[in-house]
Amino acid sequence: MVEEMSNKNWNWWPLFPLYPYGQKKTILRELIPNQIWSLEQIQGLYYVAVPIRMTVIKIDNGLMLINPLPPTKELVNELKKLISIHGKVKTVVLPSASGLEHKIGLPALARIFKDAEIWLCPGQWSFPINLPLDFLGIPSKRTRILFEDGTPYKDVCTWSSLGPINLGLGRYQEVSCYHSPTRTLIVTDAIIGISSKPPEIFDFDPTPLLFHSRERGDEPLVDSVEKRKKGWARLVLFSSFLKPGKLKIPSLKQIFKYSFKTDLRNKRSHFGIYPFMWDEDWESSLVEIMGDDIPMIQIAPVLKKLIFPRSKEILIGWLEEIKTLKDIKYLIPAHFSAPIKFKVADSQKLINEINSEKWDILPEDNKFLMNLYKKLFELGIIPEEVNS
Ligand SMILES: [Fe+2]
Repeated sequence: MVEEMSNKNWNWWPLFPLYPYGQKKTILRELIPNQIWSLEQIQGLYYVAVPIRMTVIKIDNGLMLINPLPPTKELVNELKKLISIHGKVKTVVLPSASGLEHKIGLPALARIFKDAEIWLCPGQWSFPINLPLDFLGIPSKRTRILFEDGTPYKDVCTWSSLGPINLGLGRYQEVSCYHSPTRTLIVTDAIIGISSKPPEIFDFDPTPLLFHSRERGDEPLVDSVEKRKKGWARLVLFSSFLKPGKLKIPSLKQIFKYSFKTDLRNKRSHFGIYPFMWDEDWESSLVEIMGDDIPMIQIAPVLKKLIFPRSKEILIGWLEEIKTLKDIKYLIPAHFSAPIKFKVADSQKLINEINSEKWDILPEDNKFLMNLYKKLFELGIIPEEVNS
């Protein structure tokens, strides 16, 4: 396993100039008519590009934003459409202590909505030292900490904490919000639902999908419904396992053999550089994580292997809390499909999966993540006592 970690092919990955995903596009979707909306962008991390979501909820005379996104012009313009109808942004909530991708937009968003009250998940950390909030660009005067300073909109929102779990470098914690008027649970990273339909935001630029739908770097980017679906399925595998079991990394010699061909000397084709080689049966890995039309509800695979291996009780405790939300109808996570139909029985199903033997089995796809976890543990980065 350490061998895999030190595999020289792996070491090369971060050096590849990454595909210039069109990250700045923002789309607005209405998730629950007249009550909840989603602003979505594409977040590109290395070779993976997955949509990320800020949820907008209508509250008394205004709006509450959950999981901030970088306020690009387009995002602010879309928000203004809602503001003109439903009132100003009154509250911004960052309900995650660990997901960096959900934090980066907060300072700029806080500057734009100067009157908004800001609520943070407890235990915000900044590596390597804990900086005071103002230094990070978060105005402390109008910032409150969830639970320590109460919770916002108690009459319509039930806030439940998953964690904290001690990760050594910081902690994993997210706070879910059950909005009772819409019977909707808003979560950040813990639960997701994945379907085979590429997210709408890729309609504006399907290039990331087409890029990954190929077998070799010298294949041109061809657009079709099938190619988009194939590329999406592979992005799902990347984001779930970092290095899917059915994926090989070709040697540099092989990679460059197909690179820089005349037609491919452009940014869009990434100059023909394509450092991936998929096994013929790569699709078999999707069975466990991707539904067809109906999103498959699951604990996010990356968290499952990196954060929860020794924290089952904490996860189950949170799912038990969700089970008490008797009328629950929808789930809105910050990634993948939303809204997803969600019932108390779905929460119980997740608990059963965690308690089943299957949870601890190590399929080929999870090898990389499990090895990474083991390695971090051996290095002392993940402490022995996780639940403190
Ligand atoms: Fe996230």
